[in-house]
Amino acid sequence: MARSINIPGLLRLVIVRSAAEAAEVDEAAGVDRPLSGRGRLINRLIAAKLAPFTTPDGQPWPAFAARLDALRAERQSGLEEALSRSANLLQRLEPEISDLAAFVCDRLPGASVGVIVQQAIGRLFFPDYRATDDSYAAAVTLSTWLSAGPIKSLLLKRSGRFQAALDLVTQDARGNASCAHAIGIALHGIIESVILMQQLASGSDQLHHLSPEEAVAQTLRAPARIIREARDRVQGRHLQLQSRSLILIPVESLRQQSADRGAAFAAGRWNQCPAHAFVPSFLAQVWRVARDSQ
Ligand code: HEM
Repeated sequence: MARSINIPGLLRLVIVRSAAEAAEVDEAAGVDRPLSGRGRLINRLIAAKLAPFTTPDGQPWPAFAARLDALRAERQSGLEEALSRSANLLQRLEPEISDLAAFVCDRLPGASVGVIVQQAIGRLFFPDYRATDDSYAAAVTLSTWLSAGPIKSLLLKRSGRFQAALDLVTQDARGNASCAHAIGIALHGIIESVILMQQLASGSDQLHHLSPEEAVAQTLRAPARIIREARDRVQGRHLQLQSRSLILIPVESLRQQSADRGAAFAAGRWNQCPAHAFVPSFLAQVWRVARDSQ
């Protein structure tokens, strides 16, 4: 059963605990991604943290945009369509895949896997995109910002580090909000998978025993959590939500309890990740190239 945390004046939060509850949150018309910035203190602070994730023309980054935002939905299907040409894209990314395969085999000493993954993801959008230590550090700062408590957030804001990171990712994404999401936020899940692949490959002859698909199944990870807000009171079969509640969906722990291979990507839902088919193909190719190079 979902856990409710209700502290008058401070916090109104519901933590989803089951796939059925998550599905109900997804389907409830009164629940959405944009946070109103109203309600209790911590609810307002979290809304303020997500508010800067907009393009220079004021569009929210896609993973913070509303379900009924027509531009979001159009870009979501446009990106999915572009990523469905996976054979061409994997060919384009051969240099990065080859470096990541060398990393998996432990043959790339000192390499920043983060920079290589960021470059691969950026080149899905712009073939001439180049990641650097600075661009990857910017993505790390954004991820730190999203999970930081109040003191760390204040330090990141006061020092200007958060704004500088956001500016660099925005500039590198050339006005493309989906690209900003990909090179600023989404890359971290792929980095985690590649590091897990390296650990898996170091086990006794796993590189040859596991098929690319099995290796992907063992190393794919979902975002730890995503956030929603109940704008109105929601009375569902599994959940009761007060208006202005924050809702935390722990996607990775729900994925671990699910037999659904698409659970990491919200596949089949309105918020489906447009890279839901491409990412497993990309990771499988990294494992395949690593295995064939041995
Ligand atoms: C391990 C890799 C990845 C995982 C597990 C993953 C998972 C997810 C999930 C669960 C969502 C829904 C978030 C929410 O509703 O709040 C999402 C959204 C999204 N993802 Fe991914 N993602 C990955 C990689 C990528 C990559 C590489 C791209 C781009 C090339 C991408 C682009 C997007 C976009 C644009 C959205 C927003 C979709 C929308 O609602 O319009 N993702 N992803």
